[in-house]
Amino acid sequence: MAQPIDVAVIGAGPGGYVAAIRCAQLGLNTVCIDDWKNPGGKPSLGGTCLNVGCIPSKALLESSENYERAGRKFAAHGITVEGLSMNVPVMISRKDKIVSNFTGGVAMLFRKNKVTSIHGHATLLGSENDENQGSLIWRIDVKDGEKVDTVLAKNIIIATGSAPRALPFATVDNERILDNTGALALADTPNRLGVIGGGVIGLEMGSLWRRLGAEVTILEALPQFLMAADEQIAKEARKLFTRESGLVIKTAVKISGVKTTAEGITVEYTDAAADESNVQKLEVDKLIIAVGRVPNTVGLGAENVGLRLDDRGYIEVDAYCRTNLANIYAVGDVVRGPMLAHKASEEGVAVAETIAGQAGHANLDTVPWVIYTSPEIAWVGKTEQELKTAGVQYKAGQFPFMANGRARALGETGGFVKMLADAVTDRILGVHMIGPYVSELISEAVVAMEFGATSEDIARIIHAHPSLSEVVHEAALGVDKRAIHI
Ligand code: FAD
Ligand code: NAI
Repeated sequence: MAQPIDVAVIGAGPGGYVAAIRCAQLGLNTVCIDDWKNPGGKPSLGGTCLNVGCIPSKALLESSENYERAGRKFAAHGITVEGLSMNVPVMISRKDKIVSNFTGGVAMLFRKNKVTSIHGHATLLGSENDENQGSLIWRIDVKDGEKVDTVLAKNIIIATGSAPRALPFATVDNERILDNTGALALADTPNRLGVIGGGVIGLEMGSLWRRLGAEVTILEALPQFLMAADEQIAKEARKLFTRESGLVIKTAVKISGVKTTAEGITVEYTDAAADESNVQKLEVDKLIIAVGRVPNTVGLGAENVGLRLDDRGYIEVDAYCRTNLANIYAVGDVVRGPMLAHKASEEGVAVAETIAGQAGHANLDTVPWVIYTSPEIAWVGKTEQELKTAGVQYKAGQFPFMANGRARALGETGGFVKMLADAVTDRILGVHMIGPYVSELISEAVVAMEFGATSEDIARIIHAHPSLSEVVHEAALGVDKRAIHI
């Protein structure tokens, strides 16, 4: 038998490539197998996150935010901009350059850390006993076109990620009906853009194209807006997105059909504002489908080896990302928990450390969420509705950006920070934010919660003045009704 390697990682997204690098750092002989190809047909590492997710979406959101600032916000500073225009192809090629820098960067990191990168689709085939070591050796087929290689590995980390959930009545062609890949590569701003799904992708992509001038209508199936967020934050978000950003958001939507003609796309639906017999029509030029993502186990060969999946298709794992099979682990979007890049990476690191005999650990209770809308939304820990449902007694402190000097100077005064702390122990249970740069502010709350801090701990920390972080400080003071500036 050929010599088995220590670890084969399947998937080079933020779960897989980070796991592979950490394995190599720990002295494990590691290969990383990935099948992603960029639009030019070349292998491209980094998975969804780097190619068609986190990185390209944030690059475009930044461009569109700058355009909006120049068009709508500079005037208040006395800055006049004449002849403002947006060159979408330039914006897209800037984004493409950022993407290729990062995907190439992963290849460079693999070389630096001596991770062997193999391009191709991996299928689990089976296992055999290693007579010398008395342990299992796993066999993986890697197919790249006609070429098939076999990899033998003592340990496997599956990080195959997720794919967009399809709607049977609206087939994505990425010309007019788009998933995230198409929504990030439009050649021009559509006049009318429809979005099915008012979740994270729908809001970010809707905001992006709205800022560039599209009329954007978001159709959300649930009666409540942004169900995953704290209710008060969701309410404020809906108000600000509608009033300030000009997004049209419809909830309790039931879509009965999507028709494509030469003139455009017609979405037929009923919503909370109309009874079921009153079917409404939304006419758009482009339609984004963003109704969640499904774990990616297609062609993985789970059935060949008896790898257990749950009833929704996720690979079943325990708290240490161990599957039901010896020495096979799974991390990231393909397992339970939030579909977030940083969660995938932390699980990857934890598994690498476990394989190397260390105490790997990823705390899913303190995974921060950020939605890069304008204003941004961020949270960590429990929402108020979760605490109420669980019967936990808590205190809440809240402070608005309106009363903060730095926010005023920025001209970004919408939103607030809310801190929830245990009524008896004062331990912080959740922190919820909507406002400027809360994607950065949330880290303080994550650190505090990881260290088991109380609201009093944050209240006693000196925060720089004038800074947005003072809003977090005042929210902590507010837990005991002693905020100063309100
Ligand atoms: P992926 O990144 O999906 O990578 C899996 C890789 O495995 C892919 O390259 C895939 O081709 C490959 N693969 C699959 N099966 C096989 C196989 N059998 N053999 C070989 N290779 C295989 N998260 C955030 O935290 N912040 C954000 O701002 C953010 N923005 C996002 C924006 C968009 C538009 C989208 C779609 C997602 C966003 N996400 C964001 C989510 C984030 O991209 C995912 O949570 C993250 O990429 C998951 O990482 P992963 O390693 O589990 O899987
Ligand atoms: P999502 O789960 O966030 O939202 C999907 C929305 O579609 C839900 O509100 C759901 O109720 C709605 N929906 C489902 N079926 C529908 C239908 N038939 N008609 C109308 N609405 C329907 O999923 P989304 O936006 O696709 O994003 C997938 C995941 O990617 C996110 O959950 C998140 O984990 C990750 N992501 C993270 C980002 C970040 O961290 N900033 C950015 C983008 C994506």
